[in-house]
Amino acid sequence: MKYHTLMTKPSAKKSARKLPITIGVVNQKGGVGKTTVTMMLAFQLAREGKNVIIHDKDSGGTAMSWDKAATNLGQPLPFDVAHSDNFGLLTSQTDYDFVIADNPPNNELLLTTMAATADYLVIPLLPGGVEIDRVGLTKEIMAKEEGARETTLRYGYVLNSVGNNNITKETEKHMKELGYPVLTSIPRRVAYSEAYGKHLRGDLLLPAEDILRNLGIKL
Ligand SMILES: Nc1ncnc2c1ncn2[C@@H]1O[C@H](COP(=O)(O)OP(=O)(O)OP(=O)(O)O)[C@@H](O)[C@H]1O
Ligand SMILES: [Mg+2]
Repeated sequence: MKYHTLMTKPSAKKSARKLPITIGVVNQKGGVGKTTVTMMLAFQLAREGKNVIIHDKDSGGTAMSWDKAATNLGQPLPFDVAHSDNFGLLTSQTDYDFVIADNPPNNELLLTTMAATADYLVIPLLPGGVEIDRVGLTKEIMAKEEGARETTLRYGYVLNSVGNNNITKETEKHMKELGYPVLTSIPRRVAYSEAYGKHLRGDLLLPAEDILRNLGIKL
């Protein structure tokens, strides 16, 4: 089915669950695609009829301004976006099926909280050796929390901005050797950056379908 028509928010009553499923999108490194992946997941889940809220953990962050821009264009997003300056995931918000937390870079306390409390973590990274080295810090902080959890932390990596080039191939190989679970790859496409403040088209959401399926989230 083509996805050109604007979506509207599903009724909260219809699809409400007891506790929302929580997904933290994290990487201590900046500019790797956290907000882009957050938006892709939210659009995909909204397409599936889920009631979604994004918690923008970045004060004055991109998710909030994306939402505002869409509203100003007369095309409100099919999910809610709220700034969240507390460290929890507000799972008490039972009107929602999913809470997706878009995290800022370089915030160890937030990452620790995500690793302790989120049901799932999604870690976008860019191709490149230095990017894999830098993601090691995120992995270390997560690992510290993992042992203390009562439930299994499910997580995986999203290789973002991939192309048909050596750096992408080498990164894929390196990730495999390290045993890092890769949920999907997102191609480098100008359409992703152009989507800021607008609705993400269906063809741009295919990687989000992979992410949800490979995390084992049943919709
Ligand atoms: N697959 C892609 N193809 C092309 N451009 C992309 C892609 N993914 C992200 N971008 C662009 O790269 C920039 C950084 O992406 P994004 O804002 O999602 O990263 P971030 O990790 O949230 O950054 P920050 O750490 O600053 O919050 C943005 O301009 C975004 O539009
Ligand atoms: Mg961001």
